[in-house]
Amino acid sequence: MPRILITSALPYVNGIPHLGHLVGCLLPSDVYARYQRMLGNEVLYICGTDEHGTPSEVGAAKEQMSVEAYCDKYHNRHKEVYKKFNLSFDFFGRTSTPQNEEIVNHIFAQLDKNGFIEEKTIKQVFSIDDDRFLPDRYITGTCPYCGYDKARGDQCENCTKVLDPTELINPRSTISGSTNLQVRETKHLFLKLPLLEKELAQWVKTKEPYWPDVAYSIAQKWLKEGLQERCITRDLKWGFSVPKSGFEDKVFYVWFDAPIGYIGISKQWADENPAARDWRSWWLDAKDVYYVQFMGKDNVPFHSISFPATLLGTRENWTKVDYLKGMSYLTFEG
Ligand code: 2FM
Ligand code: ZN
Repeated sequence: MPRILITSALPYVNGIPHLGHLVGCLLPSDVYARYQRMLGNEVLYICGTDEHGTPSEVGAAKEQMSVEAYCDKYHNRHKEVYKKFNLSFDFFGRTSTPQNEEIVNHIFAQLDKNGFIEEKTIKQVFSIDDDRFLPDRYITGTCPYCGYDKARGDQCENCTKVLDPTELINPRSTISGSTNLQVRETKHLFLKLPLLEKELAQWVKTKEPYWPDVAYSIAQKWLKEGLQERCITRDLKWGFSVPKSGFEDKVFYVWFDAPIGYIGISKQWADENPAARDWRSWWLDAKDVYYVQFMGKDNVPFHSISFPATLLGTRENWTKVDYLKGMSYLTFEG
């Protein structure tokens, strides 16, 4: 009998759950979990809140709360809403736990040991009044292409041009509105995806007969364009500290620890439920486990490329997705 591992993409803790989450991954994963249980299969169906990153820091500051208290508040709100919809998770956890940190640190150490991590110095915008580096999307200014005066540092929403924040005219901090900005050098760690590209492409190819077209074609598009090294650290306070000398004041990027959160949440489930089967039996050398992921299509690159590459680079036999369901967006009013 196969055991069925099911994950539904982890919603950002700072967002209020909306119909898109429900239609895009919560309901389909719930229906699938119920169906598998009816067949008599052993199921582990998990979800949880994705808690790190700048939006949580900014949200907490707005509500004049500590980030921890802010995440507690919104984690509980998500949990209540999903309970009202009677979703049948075996466990609804969170990514900011010591369990997740332990697994993130382990995976990072393996990647580093195996030569898949590189240090690089990059240039980033620093806001003197906010006393912090600003992620691209937290810089606002005038778009040099269309003149829209509220363009974000990563993209202009008006003309859709992808931007570099240094191109913006009259740039200002989205957090405080301050124009007292400087471009500063900062050291970061990168995952050397190009070294894993060939292996990853072979793994993705094996999924062609199984994955739905949406997921498979998105993965192929990324592979065709060629993988770039990916920055996995950030200059933030909220997040897991990077356990490497010279990087202690940085944290892991939210998209590094969020998918690992599926494993961290399984460990949290096992720790909080004495009757649970050991989490490792689902995730390491788990030959009888069939793993199905549900998500919105914007999440497909992270789940089909960066997360599997991260797991491959550990040189350990972590469970990787067998069936990846990427859903198109729910739209209304046209
Ligand atoms: O797009 C989102 O809502 C992300 N929080 C999904 C993360 S899924 C997993 F990687 F944690
Ligand atoms: Zn524009």
